[in-house]
Amino acid sequence: MNYCDIYNKSITSSEEFWKDQANQLEWYNQPSNILSTDTNGYPLWFADGQLNACYLSVDKHIQDGYGEQVAIIYDSPVTQTVKKYTFNEVKTEVAKLAGGLLSLGLEKGDTAVIYMPMIPQAAFAMLACARIGVTHSVVFGGFAPHELAIRIDDCEPKAIITASSGIEIDRLIAYKPLVDEAIELANHKPEKVVVFNRKLGARVPFKKYDVDYEALVYGSEETPCIPVNATHPLYILYTSGTTGKPKGIVRDTGGYTTALKFSMQHIYDAKEGDVFWAASDVGWVVGHSYIVYGPLINRNTTVLFEGKPIRTPDASTFWRVIAEHKINVMFTAPTAIRAIKKEDPNGEFIKQYDLSSLRIQFLAGERCDVATLEWYREHVPIPAIDHWWQTESGWPMIANMMGVEYLPIKPGSAGKAVTGYDIRIFGENGQELGPNEEGYVVIKLPLPPGTLLDLWKDNERFKAGYLNKFPGYYFSGDGGFKDEDDYIFITGRVDDVINVAGHRLSTAEMEEIVASHHSVAECAVIGINDELKGQIPLALVVAKSGDTVEKFQLQHEVVQLVREKIGAVAALRDVVVVQRLPKTRSGKILRKMMRSIADGENFQVPSTIDDEAIIDEIREVLEEAKIGSFK
Ligand code: COA
Ligand code: AMP
Repeated sequence: MNYCDIYNKSITSSEEFWKDQANQLEWYNQPSNILSTDTNGYPLWFADGQLNACYLSVDKHIQDGYGEQVAIIYDSPVTQTVKKYTFNEVKTEVAKLAGGLLSLGLEKGDTAVIYMPMIPQAAFAMLACARIGVTHSVVFGGFAPHELAIRIDDCEPKAIITASSGIEIDRLIAYKPLVDEAIELANHKPEKVVVFNRKLGARVPFKKYDVDYEALVYGSEETPCIPVNATHPLYILYTSGTTGKPKGIVRDTGGYTTALKFSMQHIYDAKEGDVFWAASDVGWVVGHSYIVYGPLINRNTTVLFEGKPIRTPDASTFWRVIAEHKINVMFTAPTAIRAIKKEDPNGEFIKQYDLSSLRIQFLAGERCDVATLEWYREHVPIPAIDHWWQTESGWPMIANMMGVEYLPIKPGSAGKAVTGYDIRIFGENGQELGPNEEGYVVIKLPLPPGTLLDLWKDNERFKAGYLNKFPGYYFSGDGGFKDEDDYIFITGRVDDVINVAGHRLSTAEMEEIVASHHSVAECAVIGINDELKGQIPLALVVAKSGDTVEKFQLQHEVVQLVREKIGAVAALRDVVVVQRLPKTRSGKILRKMMRSIADGENFQVPSTIDDEAIIDEIREVLEEAKIGSFK
């Protein structure tokens, strides 16, 4: 089948199409009700089916005779460890951990938070929860206790599963004190904290709610997989929205596992038995879909990498991992390639490794700039495929579907709409725009299987954020255009969300935190272009009149405050103190204009601006601080 045929079939006969895909999985109860709606009229896939995501990821392969195939390769340059786990080994560990969680009182319908570094136990914890129908919520390890507490209060976990420490290049990060602090801050108190002690020397304060991970696994019986409904929430994954409160994306089980199996083969062109590596983190959606569930469901060997593209120990790491583990298909963020390119512009390290196993390189998480794509193609002559998706979608929405047909690449475009996604470009009033006209990227409902089911306990926000703007369509929050050949070009977010080194962050949330500083009268946080990270935040603050705080002191304290509340991952380093912020006559802060000033772009001065003189004031401050295009 070629791309056009399969795509058209997925749109015109979507139920038949997805029924065929669901048949690729093993169900306890094969679904007969393929597409229905919930009480709010939102589409549901496979509502009467029953299955288990852990069974599909692990047990099934053992039953099919692949128990001795390596399921997970843990490669950790920061601890100089490489460890391989077969499906048999994963099953024993996961089934015992699941038994242990049951013994702690967790049961189907409960939630558990997982706050872990990139170690195999993070994947084991996810699979153990799935095995017994406990909905997991993995929180990225770079988030501070305050962020963890927000998530604890929202999803009310019965338990938290954590590890003693993570390692950031050369720095040990003690996780347990962060978890304890988050529990202190939260109103909801989890009953148990299961701690995997890595014995790397981190401080592990003992609390009454603690349970030792290894003792729990050792002392528990293996427990079988529990069938759950297709619509049972496999996980909640929090992502940044346009307010200080992150959004709890709810993922079903049946639609998701169907979509993942389909995407592994039809988008990523991964054959069963292949080695697949997504160099991301289990705290992000990429980690859920393409480190853990997708490759395992497709019976691939998946690589769990605890390191960075550079400095662990150098820019050769990615190539070493590819050569050593004979990676067939890889996924990373363009920012990682930019980091490598900066350290090794001529690709000297690349020449030292045998990369012949690698067939395709996928890139996502942010727009892939043409220079990065071209550098990659020059040094690694295989298809480098940009593709577009979000936490909300759970799997790609725009891509070159490499398992279907390798279409010509147009640099700057993530390709064409993926099967099941009827993508349109709308203007402000909901009118569909023509070729090359930039507007809002929207998708006609129903979204295909695997996409978000709801926001956790907040259906109103779900509707307000995604469905109400253009009735009958899902609003992605991204802008873009389609060319005359239906290639889609994503131009960036149209809201307060920014992408910093492939990490999705909210400037609105940072703004709330900066504004809470006692010396700040008002402030704005905007995302500006950055050569390495794609975007970085910039805070412009106005000090309270009469406040005697030194400018440098205020800048330092604002940076520290954001690190303390959100975490180092927020990467707020640039703070400038200004006399006032540019505003319209009605008092609206002109953030877009400030972004253009910082990025050195041409812009039209809004006719509603309060006082044009401020443009030069802002320029001068940025110039003096050597920020953005004034570097
Ligand atoms: N736990 C604790 N801290 C973390 C962390 C974690 N899991 N992840 C990041 N941090 C910290 C870092 O140590 C750093 O702290 P610092 O400001 O004290 O140095 C800060 O958060 C920013 O980290 P990061 O964004 O990783 O920046 P970096 O400068 O250390 O590295 C890159 C830059 C480009 C190499 C790195 O961001 C990278 O590998 N990006 C790829 C991202 C990716 O794969 N994203 C997934 C989407 S597909
Ligand atoms: P996240 O939910 O963290 O995966 O971030 C999703 C957002 O990242 C999208 O809404 C886009 O703004 C951006 N994004 C992801 N992949 C791409 C891509 N290939 N091209 C452009 N933007 C992307």
